Amino acid sequence: MRYSEELIEEVRERNDIVDVISGYVSLKKKGTSYFGLCPFHNEKSPSFSVSREKQMYYCFGCGQGGDVFGFLMEYNRLSFLEALQDLAGRAGIELPEQDQTPQEKQEADARLVLKEMNKAAAVYYHWNLLHSKRGEKARAYLENRGISLEMIKHFGLGYADLYRDGLYQYLRGKGYTDLQLKDSSLVTIDTIKGSYDRFFNRVMFPIMDVNQRVVGFGGRVMGDGEPKYLNSRETILFDKGRNLYGLNYARRSREKSIILCEGYMDVISLHQAGFTNAVAPLGTAFTTGQAMLLKRYVQEVVLAFDSDGAGIKAALRALPILREAGLRGKVLSLKPYKDPDEMIKAEGKEAFQKSLDHAQAGRMFELDVLHDQYNQNDPDSRTEFVREMAKKLAEIEEEVERTAYVSAAANHFMVKEKDLQNLVNRYGLGYQFEKANQRYKREPETAERTEARKTEQQSQPPRLLLTWLIEHPEIYPVIRKTIQPDDFLQPLHHSVALMMFDQLDRGEPIFPAGILVKFTDAEEKKEVAALFSTRLKYEPDPEQNDKALSDIVRKVKLASIEDEMTHTNDITRWQELIAQKNKIQRLDLHIYNK
Ligand code: GTP
Ligand code: MN
Repeated sequence: MRYSEELIEEVRERNDIVDVISGYVSLKKKGTSYFGLCPFHNEKSPSFSVSREKQMYYCFGCGQGGDVFGFLMEYNRLSFLEALQDLAGRAGIELPEQDQTPQEKQEADARLVLKEMNKAAAVYYHWNLLHSKRGEKARAYLENRGISLEMIKHFGLGYADLYRDGLYQYLRGKGYTDLQLKDSSLVTIDTIKGSYDRFFNRVMFPIMDVNQRVVGFGGRVMGDGEPKYLNSRETILFDKGRNLYGLNYARRSREKSIILCEGYMDVISLHQAGFTNAVAPLGTAFTTGQAMLLKRYVQEVVLAFDSDGAGIKAALRALPILREAGLRGKVLSLKPYKDPDEMIKAEGKEAFQKSLDHAQAGRMFELDVLHDQYNQNDPDSRTEFVREMAKKLAEIEEEVERTAYVSAAANHFMVKEKDLQNLVNRYGLGYQFEKANQRYKREPETAERTEARKTEQQSQPPRLLLTWLIEHPEIYPVIRKTIQPDDFLQPLHHSVALMMFDQLDRGEPIFPAGILVKFTDAEEKKEVAALFSTRLKYEPDPEQNDKALSDIVRKVKLASIEDEMTHTNDITRWQELIAQKNKIQRLDLHIYNK
């Protein structure tokens, strides 16, 4: 961070968080805070709070939180610097120029140029489609495919001309240099053969990120031709594994699930039919990055892949990825149609809605596919199927879920529930055993996991202590006698403690935004905001409160002493620490129950 702290603080002060967030979320005053529907996860009742007093936001549903910078970084996917620039602009504050390293400046400039270039290309293609003479052919093609003019405009569809260098000439005319065009994936610069467009004679689908910025293109050949679809290569703006076509609209649909289909055409025809929560990957298989992206908006994803073998395979691949990301996966049946586009054309949106309502749970779909691989009329083959099914069911870790699936599967495949349950239990034991074995064999991984768990447990008391101090600064004089900022071992906690103790020493009230503003990383902001928003569970009994607080203080201090003991080589200091440790173990605070 190279802008001065004063300047950053000034930008923050001049942008009231309630005013800024009101531009994105509709807020209602409730008590001292404002509440609205959280833009970072899907919910029906508002748990997203914004406090004018603290100048911060926090969602009690999903734990997103931070200051005004953090909000813009999260909401608009900006870097800290971009958020700062945005807010400075709103407040009319001019930022000095020289604050980026030359390399950062170069990268930021290149991204900006590419963004503008993509936008210009989208405008060019779109204009060609709607107004050029040759665009007529493409207009007819889209009309023939049943896409309305409204959707053409909504998705900014375009047409790449037959000229092999139309876009190239257009962008050169706008002043872009070959050097800038070289990495755009819009044109190919070739000093010998001449420069030419990547896309020609195609219907163009601009791919937008969640903030409506064009990051790349897909192009479909009109009629037959190879390849049918051509996509932009990845660039500094375009990461195929972290974008989904249509998500810029789907994220605002407020449906409880997202419909994931295979291609551009499916997305457009679904949106046209009113299913504005449809998205598609970008010509590659569904990735974990895309699942995580969806996780920010919904808990359930309905797969509407093509009904052919490739579509089934794609669904079988996507389901575990969804599960891994903590999303519920469902599979929709399109039969006898090939894809959503065909189904809606043939039977209308009601038919699709019906399929949607009857979408099958992912695991049942997997079992159905398994079922079809066995000859159910042959007793041996049928037995083999039931065994394989039991193995799959045994993998479900949570008992309630496992039992529910055993019951559903027994019903669906006409197996005696008790038989299936017994088999699952048997494999279940084997499965648990196998897992335990794996754990035993893979020692380094186990050590790591234990370490992670330990860290998590260890960070609990310091976090609670900081929260307690924020909510009840009156305990500070007593706490101060035992705890110093250095006792907070985790760097983030340490920084927060330093600032808080400093404010408290000067007798100032703790001002969360004043502390938050010092953290420029979105993840850090989120964690600090959580510290400022945790609601402690108070015991009505003062004695219980004292006990709880003493316990927390002891844990924090002991961890700190033990940490120092492992690092010091000084024997006298070591003896001091032992003595301190004994004293702390007997620590008993009397604050609430005097
Ligand atoms: P239409 O034939 O226009 O209806 O297309 P569709 O929506 O039925 O597309 P299809 O099922 O053939 O393919 C689904 C998606 O896979 C497309 O949207 C593309 O993203 C991708 N895709 C299809 N064909 C190709 C190809 O030849 N090359 C690449 N890179 N991607 C393709
Ligand atoms: Mn298709």
